[in-house]
Formats: sequence, C-alpha cells, structure tokens
Amino acid sequence: MTKAIIGIIGGSGVYDLPGLDNLREEQMTTPWGEPSDALRFGTLAGRDAVFLPRHGRGHKLSPSGINYRANIAALKQAGVTDLVSVSACGSYRAELYPGFFVLVDQFVDRTHGRESSFFGNGCVAHVSMAHPVAPLLQRRISEAAKAEDIAHKLNGTYLCMEGPQFSSYAESMTYRAAGYDVVGMTAMPEAKLAREAEISYATIAMVTDFDCWHADHEIVDVAAVIKVVHENAGRAAALIARLIRDFPEEHETCPVGSDRALDNALITAPAA
Ligand code: ADE
Repeated sequence: MTKAIIGIIGGSGVYDLPGLDNLREEQMTTPWGEPSDALRFGTLAGRDAVFLPRHGRGHKLSPSGINYRANIAALKQAGVTDLVSVSACGSYRAELYPGFFVLVDQFVDRTHGRESSFFGNGCVAHVSMAHPVAPLLQRRISEAAKAEDIAHKLNGTYLCMEGPQFSSYAESMTYRAAGYDVVGMTAMPEAKLAREAEISYATIAMVTDFDCWHADHEIVDVAAVIKVVHENAGRAAALIARLIRDFPEEHETCPVGSDRALDNALITAPAA
C-alpha cells in the first residue's frame, strides 16, 4: 500500500497551518535549489501532513521569484502524494464574492519566464495537463467544505498571470469575457510541476476581490486582499483540518492519472 501524505501550500496571508502538532522543521535541499521556506512536518488529527508557505515567512518571494521546482521537489522528497494549495484570487464573476472558495478544475497559464518543467534537453517528457486537478482530491475538499459549512463551488477556471502588478481594466474585461472564473499569480507552474512529479494536485481559490472590472467595487489592492485572507483564514484552516482528518490512509489511484503521469510521457530514448 502507498501511504497517503497530504501537503499544503499556503499562499498570500497563509504562512502557517493551525492545528499542526508535533512540529518539526526541515530546510530541504533539492537538485533544483532551495524551497521557499523550511518544510513544516507535523500531525493533524493523528495524520501526517507537511506545510510550505509559498512566498516564505514574511512574504519575501514574489510570484515570479518563487522556485516552484524546488518547492515541488522538496514536497515529493517528503513523500507527499496529495497536494492542496490555498491561493488568494480575484474574481471575474459577481456571484463569486470575497470570502467564497472556488475549487477550480482548470488553469490557463499566462505566465512567462518561469522554470516550468523538471525535464529539458537530455531527458524530454510531455505529461498530460488536460485534467490538471485530481478529481478525488477535489471531491474530498468539497466534502470537507460542506462539513464545515463553507460556501464554495466545484470547478472553475483559474487564469494565472505573471504579475506582480495587478491586471489592467482591459485585461480584466478580456479574461472575464473569455469565461474564466478567478485570477491569481501562482498556481502555474505549480500544477504542471506537481503533475510531472506524479503528485495529485488541487487548488482552493479563496476569492479576495473583484480585480478591477466591477463598477460597484473598489479596484483591488494588497490591503484588500490581505484583509479578506485574514477574515477567512480560520475557515480555510478548518477546511484543511477536516480534509486531513477524513483523508483515507491509503493513496487512492487517481482517475485522471496524476499519480502515474510519467508512464507514457518520456520521449527521449533510454541510454544504450
Ligand atoms: N490575487 C488576489 N487577487 C488577485 C487579483 N485580482 N489578480 C491577481 N492575483 C490576485
């Protein structure tokens, strides 16, 4: 049996995981460098869990400056099978209001210049990103949200922009018209790398603002984002604690192949 180990990546305003007991910190090193912070190993309701703040303690790393490869590699080294990220997001829909959680199932990657693969010259692989979110993990998050009475929606498309500046009005209107649901700066290349590392991945998009398209709402700024994150951090923590507590001990085979993404992905001929 493969033991299921849950990893949690905290985004803006989420720098620790309340309820994580028996804490042990480890500064990992990986072939891709150092992760954003020490990994925090602990137990929650008797289950092993690992936490990593994506921007580092004190929010030192910008979305473009995060070493996503080192983060995912360190979590893989830690034995993580299922990875949940919590990310503050802008909303493109009136019904997705600040404080609402969207369990996205799709990403559009508009980032550029980020290292987005473990593979490259010498060893080439092409994994499928058709279904970037692991459906069983997403369903378990939804069940935990229901149990905690947290307003949320299953599925939605997350537009990942490079940042660090927020969008122009024209960009906001364009992405809204395209039918996307939320905007953030960090789920990519995280989701791609998790797939290459054969880790099941899901994002909890915590809506913090209406970006800049909504005539009845202020244009997003950092203070507004952090205010909403702080107001909702307790609910996010409760959701994650419930998810971990109720998670099966044994890893469940992923119906979209997150956990065996490399089976048919390598194209480089093996060395003779
Ligand atoms: N994170 C939180 N709100 C955001 C927004 N409006 N755009 C990009 N990233 C965000």
